[in-house]
Amino acid sequence: MMKNYLNQIIQGDCLTLFQNIPDNSVDITFADPPFNLKKKYNSTKDSLALQEYLNWCELWIGEMVRVTKPTGSIFLHNIPKWLTYYSAFLNKIAHFKHWISWDAPTSPMGKSLQPAHYGILFYAKDPAQTKFYEIRYPHKRCRKCNYLHKDYGGKKAGLHPFGPLMSDVWTDIHRIKHNKYRDEHPCQLPIHLLERIILMSTDENDIVLDPFSGTGTTAIAAKRLGRKYIGFELDDEYVRISESKLLQEEADSKIDNIWVSFYLDEITTVRNIDWAQLSQYYDIPEPIEDIDFTEIAPSNGKPNGYAPNRDKILGKLPLFS
Ligand SMILES: C[S@@+](CC[C@H](N)C(=O)[O-])C[C@H]1O[C@@H](n2cnc3c(N)ncnc32)[C@H](O)[C@@H]1O
Repeated sequence: MMKNYLNQIIQGDCLTLFQNIPDNSVDITFADPPFNLKKKYNSTKDSLALQEYLNWCELWIGEMVRVTKPTGSIFLHNIPKWLTYYSAFLNKIAHFKHWISWDAPTSPMGKSLQPAHYGILFYAKDPAQTKFYEIRYPHKRCRKCNYLHKDYGGKKAGLHPFGPLMSDVWTDIHRIKHNKYRDEHPCQLPIHLLERIILMSTDENDIVLDPFSGTGTTAIAAKRLGRKYIGFELDDEYVRISESKLLQEEADSKIDNIWVSFYLDEITTVRNIDWAQLSQYYDIPEPIEDIDFTEIAPSNGKPNGYAPNRDKILGKLPLFS
């Protein structure tokens, strides 16, 4: 049955569909479940009693851990309130790696601090075997003067040309604000958020499973990055939207043979181990301290091995113009 599920968004209840997925068979699981905040989904009631919601969450979280390979990771996205319950449960059946704080302002709740982040729990199935790649994001710069936001003091000679290693606080990815980029779905995630998670925790051809696929964000990210995907989604219409979007996608989010994540025409995430190869496509300021006010620039010369069929992707960067 599992074979029939590969690279598909399957309509149905995730708890039923999980029964067809063998133990230790997918590389990562990512879930962005209903938040029980009375959101208007097409087919789900998003307002269960507290204990009913938590009991249900324990069932699918248990399934996520069961199907994840020993080398794999489990990711759970939600508001901090629910993540505290999820953690208490996950600590019994998997191994805590990180609570990623994704800086993304939400609506004021009244009589409380303004919620300004979502959490992404990152658990390992077996910490001795977990696949993990360090990732980098571009340096943050002042829009007007182009100087680096962060003052590295006397340490600028040690700056990485592309940007810093990613910490567990993610401030550079924004929620989808404009309706023209959204589907008819109340809480669609940005594709490059999922691409970052996938680049950090999987290899090409690995399997990524999302039990609450929505309009297919995780599947699209996986497909763009040359990974396989399995999505479960209760709602017919969201499945239809996902399938039609997936038809437009190709496994082409790369420069040469290096998988990277783009947002519009910017690379937003690279793997640290890939930089040596990727750097040949850039002119890097010398001395390196000049990174403080000069961005790395796409190289004018065409790199060795340049092939015309890469134009589509390379066209996303202002390379070789
Ligand atoms: C928070 S949304 C996920 C959004 C998704 N990350 C995206 O970017 O499009 C949760 C989704 O879970 C679906 N859902 C709710 N209960 C489900 C269940 N029992 N099995 C499968 N999907 C379910 C809802 O229809 C909704 O689309």
